[in-house]
Amino acid sequence: MSPVDLDHRLRFAVDAAHRAGELALEHARNPEGLGIQVKGVQDVVTLADRAAEQALRTEVAAVYPGDSMLGEEDGLTPGWDGAAPLWIVDPIDGTANYARRLPLWCISVGLFVDGEPVLGVIHNPMTNETHAAARGRGATLNGMPIRASAETSPQRSRINLGFSYRRPQALHVASIDRLLARQCEYSRLGSGALGLAYVADGRFEGYFEPHINAWDVAAGIVIVREAGGFTNDFFAGDARLERGNAILAGAPGMRGFLERTLGDLMEG
Ligand code: IPD
Ligand code: CA
Repeated sequence: MSPVDLDHRLRFAVDAAHRAGELALEHARNPEGLGIQVKGVQDVVTLADRAAEQALRTEVAAVYPGDSMLGEEDGLTPGWDGAAPLWIVDPIDGTANYARRLPLWCISVGLFVDGEPVLGVIHNPMTNETHAAARGRGATLNGMPIRASAETSPQRSRINLGFSYRRPQALHVASIDRLLARQCEYSRLGSGALGLAYVADGRFEGYFEPHINAWDVAAGIVIVREAGGFTNDFFAGDARLERGNAILAGAPGMRGFLERTLGDLMEG
């Protein structure tokens, strides 16, 4: 296989995420027609999620016919051989926010090559902010370079926490309790991808969630790392693409604190 052209794919991903965002905005203009369906406990999907993923699949197939895709709504391209570049896409991350007309949702487009995430784009159509990165090229917000926070003190930090009923609520409660015991502030946005984007640009000093899916974090992991932050080795081990993992990410100077404080809450 010829080498993967990351620059070309990065430009494509930024444009495709904008188009998917426009589609989601169009659906949002007619809230009656959102077609909200329950997928699980506190887990919904709308017609916009399905339409945006279909649009992204059609675009990838047209421009990169040899590539495959893992998406939240339609799963893994049948027959992916593990060698072809794999787009990892969440057509709307923060769907519960989207369905409630809250502005914290985004399109997350990642690319996975040779067992590693190498490119990420996170686009929030409500704020018109696009975080983007490709391996070795740095991270940007609307084209301007970004860096993770230089903060080292928990007492001046804010960590974004995520939770879903895929894991026991005790893990989430413990993470809040431990951070507050160290006078460290926390938030919960309801979008894992945006949480990571905001670690990359220094708005948060960290992100933790006991279990999250690959499509929520594939893009954000690249953006955080390229901005100088750290993440756990999310894709290490068996079947992470389909099973997911815990995520811990943060500013470089907060790594020791976050690993000591939250590390044992990271179930495999
Ligand atoms: C969810 C969001 C949420 C996170 C969950 C995800 P969805 O994705 O990212 O913040 O806590 O783990 O499943 O359902 O909005 O696409
Ligand atoms: Ca998601």
